[in-house]
Amino acid sequence: MQNISPFNSIPQMSQKRFAQPAFKGSAKVELLGKDISVGVRNFLIQETAFFREPDTLEFIKSFVKNSTKQVINIVDGACSSGYETYSIAMLLENIGKKVNILGFDKGQKAINDAIKGEFQIKRRNNDFDDICDFAKDSFLAFPQKLSKHEQKYKNMFNNFFTDITKQKKEHSFFKRLKSMLTDAMTPYDTKTFLIKPEKKSTCTFKTGDILELDKIVPEKSADVILFRNALYHLTTYEAYDRKAPLPDKLIKPAIEQVVTQLDKALNKGGLFVLGSHECDHFSNTGEIVHSTLKKHNFIPLYIENKLPVIWQKS
Ligand SMILES: C[S@@+](CC[C@H](N)C(=O)[O-])C[C@H]1O[C@@H](n2cnc3c(N)ncnc32)[C@H](O)[C@@H]1O
Repeated sequence: MQNISPFNSIPQMSQKRFAQPAFKGSAKVELLGKDISVGVRNFLIQETAFFREPDTLEFIKSFVKNSTKQVINIVDGACSSGYETYSIAMLLENIGKKVNILGFDKGQKAINDAIKGEFQIKRRNNDFDDICDFAKDSFLAFPQKLSKHEQKYKNMFNNFFTDITKQKKEHSFFKRLKSMLTDAMTPYDTKTFLIKPEKKSTCTFKTGDILELDKIVPEKSADVILFRNALYHLTTYEAYDRKAPLPDKLIKPAIEQVVTQLDKALNKGGLFVLGSHECDHFSNTGEIVHSTLKKHNFIPLYIENKLPVIWQKS
């Protein structure tokens, strides 16, 4: 098993900051209506952020760079509102290859947001944020002393997004009046960014369910498929309490269904990418996912947070 993360060689402090699994920025919840037969929950947790779990993303970048192929197809499953998808696009820009990036999510609202290309970044500024490890992509939008790596990401971000916070605020007369009265005293806590028109085509988005991957991705067409920090939607009861796993006899067929379809959709040597937080949501989910991937001859390639998060189709 290799670990070629470029973050391995950077000083301990910044490595620690970047290696943490939680990288929350935007946290929305989308209701799926009353129909819970489609899954175990009737709501989707759409917590996400720009450059979440950057070591894993950097590994994907190295993989794409070193590939002999000139056209690479990436499918970002459970992409939420697109923070992750555009992070991949930013990292892979100027890599010298044609990279097609498709983001899909079960949530219609999340996909509408992704297509709109408007993103919020929250200021990380109080004890609560530190305790909850919240708003970690704050450095992209708010002034602070930046590490070399944060500066690299901020440059990419500025190249892709325009700050439209003021336009949003000043949209209506009352908002304008309110901001005139308050902004001088209170700095913005949330900033809004819009994808630049010329960068919009770097990603496409559609709704879709990982359980029906064959409807989204044609056979043997993908080089990288991500499904990060989302598997717990398939393995838990409808409840906020994440300590409510389904019985193994229900989890196993769902995971088998996902892996069988991944196997079909990926090209030989292609990657399946999990989140580093994936398997500690529940004790047994990790084991089931890993053993199913092994059964289908996937090879663990890269470890983050002590868990194999990147698997290669042999
Ligand atoms: C916690 S977010 C993770 C977002 C992003 N992958 C990340 O790591 O930042 C989980 C996402 O999974 C999506 N999701 C849940 N079940 C899904 C399914 N069966 N198919 C596709 N997306 C799903 C949710 O709508 C939500 O956007």
